Amino acid sequence: MRLIISILSFLFLSATALAVEIKPFLKPLNSTSGWIIGNGLWNITIGDVYGKKLFYDGRDLIGDAVGHYSGYDGESNFVWTSASIYEETPEYLDVVFSATEIDLHWIIYPDLAGAYQYIENKALPTLAVLRTLFRLDNTTFTHGRTNIKDEALPLFSDILASTKVQDETWQRADGTYITKYDWSDFIRNLDFHGVYGSEFGSWYIRPGRDYFNGNHLKQELTVHRESATGDAVELNVVHGSHFQVNSSATFPAGKIWGPWLWYLNSGSRDDAASRAVQEFASWPYSWLNDSDYQSRGSVSGRLILSDGRPAANASVFLGDNSSNKSTLDQGEHYYYAGTTDSQGSFDIEDVRTGTYGFYAWSDGGSIANVSTTFTRNDIAVQQGDETALGLLTWETQARKAIFQIGELDHKSLGFRNGGAPYQHALVAQSPANLTYTIGESNASDWYFGQSALGAWTVLFDLTAADVPSNTSASASAVLSLSLAGYSQTVSLDVSINSQVLTSLTSTTLPSDPGLYRSGTTAGEWRFLEFDIDAGVLTAGTNSLVFEVTRTTLWRGFMWDSILLEWKE
Ligand SMILES: *[C@@H]1O[C@H](CO)[C@@H](O)[C@H](O)[C@H]1NC(C)=O
Ligand SMILES: *[C@@H]1O[C@H](CO)[C@@H](O)[C@H](O)[C@H]1NC(C)=O
Ligand SMILES: *[C@@H]1O[C@H](CO)[C@@H](O)[C@H](O)[C@H]1NC(C)=O
Ligand SMILES: *[C@@H]1O[C@H](CO)[C@@H](O)[C@H](O)[C@H]1NC(C)=O
Ligand SMILES: *[C@@H]1O[C@H](CO)[C@@H](O)[C@H](O)[C@H]1NC(C)=O
Ligand SMILES: *[C@@H]1O[C@H](CO)[C@@H](O)[C@H](O)[C@H]1NC(C)=O
Ligand SMILES: *[C@@H]1O[C@H](CO)[C@@H](O)[C@H](O)[C@H]1NC(C)=O
Ligand SMILES: *[C@@H]1O[C@H](CO)[C@@H](O)[C@H](O)[C@H]1NC(C)=O
Ligand SMILES: *[C@@H]1O[C@H](CO)[C@@H](O)[C@H](O)[C@H]1NC(C)=O
Ligand SMILES: *[C@@H]1O[C@H](CO)[C@@H](O)[C@H](O)[C@H]1NC(C)=O
Ligand SMILES: *[C@@H]1O[C@H](CO)[C@@H](O)[C@H](O)[C@H]1NC(C)=O
Ligand SMILES: *[C@@H]1O[C@H](CO)[C@@H](O)[C@H](O)[C@H]1NC(C)=O
Repeated sequence: MRLIISILSFLFLSATALAVEIKPFLKPLNSTSGWIIGNGLWNITIGDVYGKKLFYDGRDLIGDAVGHYSGYDGESNFVWTSASIYEETPEYLDVVFSATEIDLHWIIYPDLAGAYQYIENKALPTLAVLRTLFRLDNTTFTHGRTNIKDEALPLFSDILASTKVQDETWQRADGTYITKYDWSDFIRNLDFHGVYGSEFGSWYIRPGRDYFNGNHLKQELTVHRESATGDAVELNVVHGSHFQVNSSATFPAGKIWGPWLWYLNSGSRDDAASRAVQEFASWPYSWLNDSDYQSRGSVSGRLILSDGRPAANASVFLGDNSSNKSTLDQGEHYYYAGTTDSQGSFDIEDVRTGTYGFYAWSDGGSIANVSTTFTRNDIAVQQGDETALGLLTWETQARKAIFQIGELDHKSLGFRNGGAPYQHALVAQSPANLTYTIGESNASDWYFGQSALGAWTVLFDLTAADVPSNTSASASAVLSLSLAGYSQTVSLDVSINSQVLTSLTSTTLPSDPGLYRSGTTAGEWRFLEFDIDAGVLTAGTNSLVFEVTRTTLWRGFMWDSILLEWKE
């Protein structure tokens, strides 16, 4: 017994000693088997596409799983034609794997379990999804963690025993669902995510986030159980389309995604959380030898509404200059999402040098009745400078409200089931028919999503004094429909006092997958306004009806807000 203990401690000590001694390395293998990279703590063998045999603390963390790879749009995986030392400093080794389309860098420090990685575009085609990932041993990695979900991954055997009902979604015999979309997240809020078990954890920590496409409401996949093999999957989707109308982008050569940190530990979420705090505090990384990455300035200003109120808690965004894409669909360059304070002031720091469009919109609260958005183009950001935009006046729609249901915040929050944890088929709980009475009902009586054939009716009373005289031939009121998302194919007739205002269908509205991919808060925001002719609104009880005339299971309209205002 004593002998065994001393042998074990000898082995342990020598392993520890080796760990300190072994510098980061790139070792080419023979022509068929690729390269080994790592340090004294870990190493991985990388072939022309896949990284296998990930050794860390005496265990192969990949085993029979598929391992590490990178690619775009589904199954187009990068093929490494060379690997070489890009840079060697006293602190780290930067190893670059080259494919025709991109370079993938691994920055390896001697004492760090894991590596920083970044991608540089060389010749990527127009694409919608760009990602790296690890598919890991599923006995070692049993659980997944994001900032909003932390639990065991669904069992592979459960998927096999269930019925496929749509893209990557299965129904168990008891009626419940299994889907990777339940692990989705608003990635600009994500501190760290990964897979873990009782002995090991593998994490992505992604500070900065300026290389992600989309705005504050950008959602993506994070971790899941691979449905064909049972692997534990840790995804790093840096450009993605899973919740959008269209995220197709053509990137300039030289665009960089990252660096992010891929981090290995004992499975401790607390340790990963402290590492995430450290990484976020270190961003932008001073060690990256890239003058474009290091060249940054800031943008500040104060937004005041035209009615004099400060634009408190508004969403602000630096994105593409003079773009005709929604802020969620922008994605070719670099993006910065922020929020104004209670006085409408904002200060967006560490913005890459360049020319931007500046956008602002209501995120609810005291400005929840503002339906207009603010845009200013040609915002130049220079190295080391603060671009002070000063006082910016944001014109509101300047109308008098008749009623509003729900806050304008581009999200379904406030409505029944709005903002619930990601889950498949929640919209099936919304009723087919609903009556909402202004003055009696409140937002939680309205549902976040409408899908079933039937009519949702809003009843509202007007007095003779409310209704403008009929002498003017012009429109008397405006109906604003703010949708948090829309998934085809569902048609909605909107009418007021039996006069049809519009039919919303897949031919008039582009589709986003939010509602049928477990989204409960948002898909892609749309805003529609309709004039209501003089004479349509009358003294007494009026009705506004939203009637679904055609439907598709789990698809439909996700509501943000409904606003009826006098046009003055
Ligand atoms: C290449 O290396 C691998 C692993 O070290 C070995 O199994 C294989 O036989 C080698 N192939 C050749 C052609 O030398
Ligand atoms: C990789 O790690 C394994 C397990 O610790 C070790 O046996 C092997 O020698 C390492 N490879 C290199 C090239 O250091
Ligand atoms: C892990 O993968 C294996 C191989 O596909 C599978 O048999 C097993 O059920 C998976 N384990 C879990 C917990 O899903
Ligand atoms: C998405 O955008 C790309 C490029 O801008 C365009 O070619 C494609 O037709 C669009 N797809 C949809 C569904 O709108
Ligand atoms: C940074 O990169 C440049 C070339 O891009 C090189 O000349 C310089 O030596 C590098 N600096 C360090 C500290 O490695
Ligand atoms: C958007 O702008 C691009 C380039 O500025 C142009 O090619 C494209 O046709 C525009 N698309 C729409 C829908 O206006
Ligand atoms: C702004 O947001 C904070 C935090 O959510 C909240 O406490 C505050 O009341 C909001 N202020 C306004 C004016 O909406
Ligand atoms: C930004 O857009 C404006 C039009 O709004 C255009 O005049 C200007 O040239 C653009 N700036 C750059 C640097 O592309
Ligand atoms: C929004 O509500 C505020 C009071 O909270 C009011 O002063 C303002 O006129 C309203 N603005 C619009 C555009 O309805
Ligand atoms: C809204 O109505 C529901 C149900 O009638 C009630 O439980 C809730 O307290 C109401 N909320 C507010 C803010 O009035
Ligand atoms: C919804 O209302 C219509 C019209 O009254 C009715 O025909 C239909 O059966 C109702 N649907 C449900 C599910 O109750
Ligand atoms: C406005 O005109 C309509 C139709 O001509 C009429 O029914 C309604 O009573 C009028 N309203 C007022 C306030 O005069």
